[in-house]
Amino acid sequence: MGWISCSCTGFSKKKKKMIMNQNPPERVKSTSERLMKIDSPQRVKAASENGKSDNIAAQTFAFRELAAASKNFRAECLLGEGGFGKVYKGYLESTNQVVAIKQLNRNGLQGNREFLVEVLMLSLLHHPNLVKLIGYCADGDQRLLVYEYMPLGSLDDHLHDISPDKKVLDWNTRMKIAAGAAKGLEYLHDKASPPVIYRDLKCSNILLGKGYHPKLSDFGLAKLGPVGENSHVSTRVMGTYGYCAPEYAMTGQLTLKSDVYSFGVVLLEIITGRKAIDESKSKAEQNLVAWARPLFKDRRKFTRMADPMLQDQYPRRGLFQALAVAAMCVQEQPNMRPGIADVVTALSYLASQKYDPIAQPNQSSRAAPGTPPRAKRGIGVQR
Ligand SMILES: Nc1ncnc2c1ncn2[C@@H]1O[C@H](COP(=O)(O)OP(=O)(O)OP(=O)(O)O)[C@@H](O)[C@H]1O
Ligand SMILES: [Mg+2]
Repeated sequence: MGWISCSCTGFSKKKKKMIMNQNPPERVKSTSERLMKIDSPQRVKAASENGKSDNIAAQTFAFRELAAASKNFRAECLLGEGGFGKVYKGYLESTNQVVAIKQLNRNGLQGNREFLVEVLMLSLLHHPNLVKLIGYCADGDQRLLVYEYMPLGSLDDHLHDISPDKKVLDWNTRMKIAAGAAKGLEYLHDKASPPVIYRDLKCSNILLGKGYHPKLSDFGLAKLGPVGENSHVSTRVMGTYGYCAPEYAMTGQLTLKSDVYSFGVVLLEIITGRKAIDESKSKAEQNLVAWARPLFKDRRKFTRMADPMLQDQYPRRGLFQALAVAAMCVQEQPNMRPGIADVVTALSYLASQKYDPIAQPNQSSRAAPGTPPRAKRGIGVQR
């Protein structure tokens, strides 16, 4: 969240957010304005799993309470740092709760707006695949957000540059994470009313709980989706390089399908273990989608796309099907991408098909010579 660069040429850890189009075609009300004006029953419905609306208010905290919880924001409590600020592990004595505390950089108006959107969105939206906001602090110019603590960190930490103490994610866990993240997005798109466009889907915003249960986090960029006749909302282009749908990057026209594109990029990262953008690779391989597109056309090349860290331990059929879903999500034409509900159906099926590497050893990657001609066909990706 939060940190914005006006240049989109570099993308180091801190330069990943961008604004590419400063002038939206038409002025639209900001999400915070719209959120605050919506009255029940039109209000964004919380619609928890049972379909009931439950607007759970976030608690307010005094700054000193959060300073005490994080041992004065001591370095040993630091969990990570994003564009928005640092995140600390903390312990709230009053409720006997371990939490994650995000301390915002003093980012002026934009940072404050994102803080407000995050608090409003997460006070209204509740789903097992969305991170819970416990409370916030707006004390003087201090802005802090208090979330449930997610013990396994972000998906990013488990896919890329893995530290030696972490085990490589197996195929079943990858499918579980993909299906859960898709369900979180389905809730925002199809269950919340009006729909919510997340706008910041990426591996570092998928946090993992016990048993690798995934939850989407960071709603500061989220937008209320189009209502009535409108097919899109127009907005400044913001997001993270490598995850932004091409039509959104070029025109600022934001639709639910922009999120589906970002989801496709995340799914490709999950399958291939590659980063959305990796400057350490050769030019042709720096952009994950650009690298994957030609490979989607030839089934014989699919096994080359599997993460080498899986060491051939994946179901061949499952790999093909997961790649087919990813290929559809990252199509250039937004109307050719599936709705998120169809993605959930496909990935829930894949997650339910448990792969056992001992019972189903995979000879796929060595099977290419005998592959029947039919297998030459690729995934029908429209370009
Ligand atoms: N609720 C949480 N529980 C545990 N760890 C968390 C939690 N929230 C964030 N973190 C950790 O802090 C890191 C930084 O998170 P943050 O959302 O600030 O930045 P980011 O997602 O990496 O980047 P960006 O600012 O672009 O969204 C995460 O990668 C994660 O490891
Ligand atoms: Mg984040």
